[in-house]
Amino acid sequence: MMMTATTEIEKGLEGVVIAKSSITFIDGERGILRYRGIDINELAAKSNFEEVTYLLWNGNLPNKTQFSEFKKELAAHRPLPTEVLKLLRATPKGAIPMEVARTAVSYMATYPRKRGETFDQFNRRKSLQLTAALPTIVASYERIRKGKTPIRPDPRLGHAANFLYGLWGKKPDEAYRAAFDTLSVLYADHEMNASTFAAIVATSTLADLGGAVTSAIATLAGPLHGGSNQRVMEMLEEIGTLDKVEGYIDSELGAGRRIMGFGHRIYKTYDPRARILKTIAEKLTEERGNRKWLEIAEEVERVVMDKRKLWPNIEFYAAVVLNALGVPKDLMPAVFACNRVSGWIAHIYEQYADNRLIRPLTEYVGPAQVPYVPIDQRA
Ligand SMILES: CC(C)(COP(=O)(O)OP(=O)(O)OC[C@H]1O[C@@H](n2cnc3c(N)ncnc32)[C@H](O)[C@@H]1OP(=O)(O)O)[C@@H](O)C(=O)NCCC(=O)NCCS
Repeated sequence: MMMTATTEIEKGLEGVVIAKSSITFIDGERGILRYRGIDINELAAKSNFEEVTYLLWNGNLPNKTQFSEFKKELAAHRPLPTEVLKLLRATPKGAIPMEVARTAVSYMATYPRKRGETFDQFNRRKSLQLTAALPTIVASYERIRKGKTPIRPDPRLGHAANFLYGLWGKKPDEAYRAAFDTLSVLYADHEMNASTFAAIVATSTLADLGGAVTSAIATLAGPLHGGSNQRVMEMLEEIGTLDKVEGYIDSELGAGRRIMGFGHRIYKTYDPRARILKTIAEKLTEERGNRKWLEIAEEVERVVMDKRKLWPNIEFYAAVVLNALGVPKDLMPAVFACNRVSGWIAHIYEQYADNRLIRPLTEYVGPAQVPYVPIDQRA
């Protein structure tokens, strides 16, 4: 049977539905986001990263016993194997954290299946391992590149507290822990975004879960996706003072450049995650007494809305929150990966459960038929 392309090409696959999914619901017109049916505002206010991860992977919230077991399993996988620490120490000087994270995850994916372990058991162990270890990888690399000793995760602390502990070398107080935890909940999943798509394309070939997560990290890195939180902070620093905002935005838009942290393929209103993060940024900066970046950010938001009617997306206020938590700019995309891993894995499970090879078409527009010219007869 001859295959033909549909005549309509949806560039960037905009508006193309590629699967049924029961993980995440988004209404981009009304700014609604739900994980497994639960509203993101409720999850941000009442839940935490570990519980949301359980929810995304299993489809329901855990009961007390299930939750305590799940947290224990994650805690057991948080410390890095010696060879992963060695790998982090051996990365080239100046290596980008996101690339180091991708490499370390790919390395961890090489630990083989145990004798007698089923495919599902292996995937579950690998999921726990990657989700728990990724924040340790990122925090440890940050310390190693600054010439400090990596911190061994504390089994009494959860995902958020351990990440900040691993970064700072001291345990965070509740306000900082809670801010990072909420950010993690908001980052955890977002339906069929580019990195999740990469993960499920890899999965659809029946590639391994670790490889699918590695593909996802590589895809998240770009500035149009998870790399934009870093670019937002760079922009705020380049602007520097409140009085320079309008001139900066005018000149960027005038030159046809994009303002990082604005616009979204799905949201045609305020991104509900950006709204929550803005409130967190307000709380954090109030406590720290440094409102500078938040004030510049709010002015950028006002000017961009005024000039282009574009709303901020999650990355805009995520950058302000991460900066207030002492996360260096080039570490911000890797922090996104530490949290989105939870959603990638949920989608990978869903794909394995109802798989068909993802193999779209292109419409060929090159020359119809060209004879082969031997090299000594070519011009
Ligand atoms: C996220 C993003 C890639 C979505 O892009 P998309 O759905 O492909 O939308 P398009 O690129 O088709 O943009 C539609 C229009 O809005 C404009 N636009 C979108 N985002 C813009 C931005 N951040 N700054 C300036 N203009 C923007 C485009 O120039 C385009 O205008 P045109 O129709 O006059 O050419 C895009 O909004 C963007 O580049 N944002 C900045 C990067 C970012 O913050 N990424 C994180 C996303 S969570």
